[in-house]
Order: sequence, then C-alpha cells, then structure tokens
Amino acid sequence: MADKDDLQESHNYYVDVPMKGEPFQLRGSNSLDWGMKNRLSKIFRPETGRTVMLAIDHGYFLGPTRGLERIDVTILPLLPYADTLMCTRGILRSTIPPTFTRGVVLRSSGGPSILKELSNEEIAVDIEDAIRLNVAALAVQVFVGGEYETKSIHNLTRLVDMGNRYGIPVLGVTAVGREMVRDAKYMRLATRICAELGASYVKTYYVSEGFETVTASCPVPIVIAGGKKVPELEALKMAYNAIQQGAAGVDMGRNIFQSEAPEAMIQAVGKIVHEGMTPEEAYEVYKTLKRG
Ligand code: R5P
Repeated sequence: MADKDDLQESHNYYVDVPMKGEPFQLRGSNSLDWGMKNRLSKIFRPETGRTVMLAIDHGYFLGPTRGLERIDVTILPLLPYADTLMCTRGILRSTIPPTFTRGVVLRSSGGPSILKELSNEEIAVDIEDAIRLNVAALAVQVFVGGEYETKSIHNLTRLVDMGNRYGIPVLGVTAVGREMVRDAKYMRLATRICAELGASYVKTYYVSEGFETVTASCPVPIVIAGGKKVPELEALKMAYNAIQQGAAGVDMGRNIFQSEAPEAMIQAVGKIVHEGMTPEEAYEVYKTLKRG
C-alpha cells in the first residue's frame, strides 16, 4: 500500500516559467514524430547535428570485399568511434555485439549481385524484423536513371510507408550507375526525388563543383558516401569540403576500412565532422594515431 503519512502539501509549479519547446535541429525534420526524432538522434549527434556513419554493408552485393573479409577482426575495433553503423541484418546478428547501443542503419534492399544488373533490387527485410533488431533507420538504394528506376523508387516509397507506421526513418541511398554523369545536376535530381518521396535523409556522392546546390535543394539532411579508396588526405579533404558545403556527415566505408590505419582514419574523419578540423589538422591526427 502506498505510504500516505508524509504527503507534502506545498509544490512549486513554476507558473512563471514558460515551458520550453525547442525546435528539432535536423534540417526538415521538425514535424516528425517523437520516435522518429529519437531514432534520428541515434544517428546524428545531438551536440553537433552531424554523423560519422561507418558503412560496412558492401557484402550485400559484393561478398567479402577487401577490408570486410573478417568483420569480427577488422571492424569491431572501429565501433567505439562510429556514431552509427550501416550494415545488413546478417552481419548484425552474426557479428555485431548487441551491446553496441548507437544507431544501426539497416541495409533493407538487395537482390542482384555484382554479376547482374544492380538496379533490379527488391525490399530485403520485413518491417517486423527491423523493429525486432531495434534499428535506427532503414536504408534503400535508389537508382535514378537506372534500368529499374521505378522499381527502386517504389522500394523507397514502400519502406517509407512501413517506417512511418512505426517511427523508423528511411535513408535514401542514391546509386549512380556507370552510365550516369556524376555531377551536381544529377545529384540534385536524385537527392531531391528521394526527399520528395519521403526519405528522412539522403546519402549521395560528393561532387567537386556545385555540391552546395545539392545540399541547398534537398530539404532533408545529406550525408556523403566515401566512394572508392583514395589517399587518406584526399578522403579527409572530401569530407571537409562536403561538411563546409552543407552535408550533415559522412557514411564512409572503403576510405575507412581499407585505410592503412582504419582506427586512426575513422577518428580523423570524426575530427572534421564534429570538431571542424581542417583536412591538414585531421591528417596530422591520423598520422599521430597511426604511429600509435
Ligand atoms: C554501397 O555499397 C553502400 O551503400 C555503401 O554503404 C556506400 O557506398 C558507402 O560506402 P563507401 O564509402 O565505401 O562508398
């Protein structure tokens, strides 16, 4: 039975203090529901509004690509430095410790391997399984201009419907086919389509000319993929330029896990994304950490 002996009669209701109602800081996300915002806060650090996503989902069409042959050996040591991990449910269940409490962005489309037409993807996960895995977002590849453009966009819109039902954001991943020109015009088209059709945030590639027009015309946050492995300083410059031109973070894979010193590299990327270091300063951090 509840104890009634020591009930306090006086209370302070702070009647003169207006209740705070702070806007949610992420671009275009203020009208989302609480659960959606909470999940996005597991991806984008609330203190900076930015993210270092570690992308290790490449095996879903590439198999054991370089650097991901043994995720237990090479990737687990990187987890303490990642705000968010992007991976498949197979790797999540088999290899990632459930004590990882930051955001997981679940690769949710798939089908063709590198041997076939990559745009011919299907949705590759049930929403119930995504909920069971407690993921922070669902990621789906969108092939604007690709052979199966409509099908991949339909995958996005179906996942958005499923995600909205349960408060799970969707990351639209713009996949640029070999026949496509990687320029700002294409990126504006592809990212805007993803946002218009309901993606909570969008992943795209950095382009050296006009990237600020891509981030400006997309009403939700943009993160950049790292792309193929380049020298560390070059990758750091790309991350820096993208952030300066409006990106809300990186979703970087090969330029971290194929680096000569992946642990040093992911920390150097974090210095740019969250601390505003220049590429040169971050490269010094990389070299120092690499030396150990
Ligand atoms: C493509 O395989 C995936 O969506 C990757 O997550 C994405 O390309 C980012 O990885 P990377 O930095 O290696 O391009």
